[in-house]
Amino acid sequence: MKTLYFTATGNSLHIAKSIGGELLSIPQMVKEGAYEFTDEKIGIVFPLHAWGVPSYVADFLKRARFDCEYLFAVTTYGVYSGAVAKHLTDIADEAGYSFSYINRIKMVDNYVPTFDMKKEVEKEAKKEIEKHLEAVKSDIETSKKWMLNESFIQKKAFDFMSRRENKPFSKKRLKVHVYGEGIENYIYVDDTCTGCGVCASVCPVDNIEVDKDNRKIALNDKCFSCFACLHHCPSNAIHIKGEVNGNRYINRHIELKEIIDANK
Ligand SMILES: Cc1cc2nc3c(=O)[nH]c(=O)nc-3n(C[C@H](O)[C@H](O)[C@H](O)COP(=O)(O)O)c2cc1C
Repeated sequence: MKTLYFTATGNSLHIAKSIGGELLSIPQMVKEGAYEFTDEKIGIVFPLHAWGVPSYVADFLKRARFDCEYLFAVTTYGVYSGAVAKHLTDIADEAGYSFSYINRIKMVDNYVPTFDMKKEVEKEAKKEIEKHLEAVKSDIETSKKWMLNESFIQKKAFDFMSRRENKPFSKKRLKVHVYGEGIENYIYVDDTCTGCGVCASVCPVDNIEVDKDNRKIALNDKCFSCFACLHHCPSNAIHIKGEVNGNRYINRHIELKEIIDANK
């Protein structure tokens, strides 16, 4: 079994590690130009963004080819999973493959414009993550065929949001999770930056240039708003306009080094 994953703050990596198999980081596959995968079972584990698949993971899936008996996807999310199964199915239809199983696991929501990470972590126990994870693992082990059932309204709302994705957005839109081009204009760095470069190491798209001498960083325009840089900055110098506060998050089962290794 091969388990492909993307993670910014460790939730999806924790799930991918627990599901097991040969773990393959999507950013590494993209950097190596590896898009063809063969195995009996292949899985994709990723964080949900804006009710669907993050644009970066979607781009990977559009190019990927899977030669397998059983293709599964598990998304991690915080509050509401929108129409992620529809989004995955649309991508797969277009690319010419199909998923046997699509499920989700509710975890800590790492979306700092809306949530206080301290409060989110306090809510973690109620989400019974390990119980849901065991159920998903058992489904995958037994090659269960199953899809998340999403309503007509969920799907229509997602289509509506997706159409607005690439237009300039206001602060209000930022708050309602509608991200698109220009996100780098909303992220700013304060003067506590030491130029240590952790942000550049966790950035999956190599979007950050580090000026160690002048203790500052510069962001290019490839950001797809995973927030890894914000969450892992050791001096908490990276912010997004409109964030609730400066609290940050990393999954308690995961070390920063694992995220650096996955995304560098
Ligand atoms: C830009 C962005 C958008 C998000 N959108 C949603 C969303 O629409 N619904 C939701 O429940 N969680 C949303 N989240 C929360 C993440 O899906 C969730 O915290 C995920 O488990 C993070 O996984 P990771 O730790 O592997 O990066 C969003 C997070 C980010 C950064």
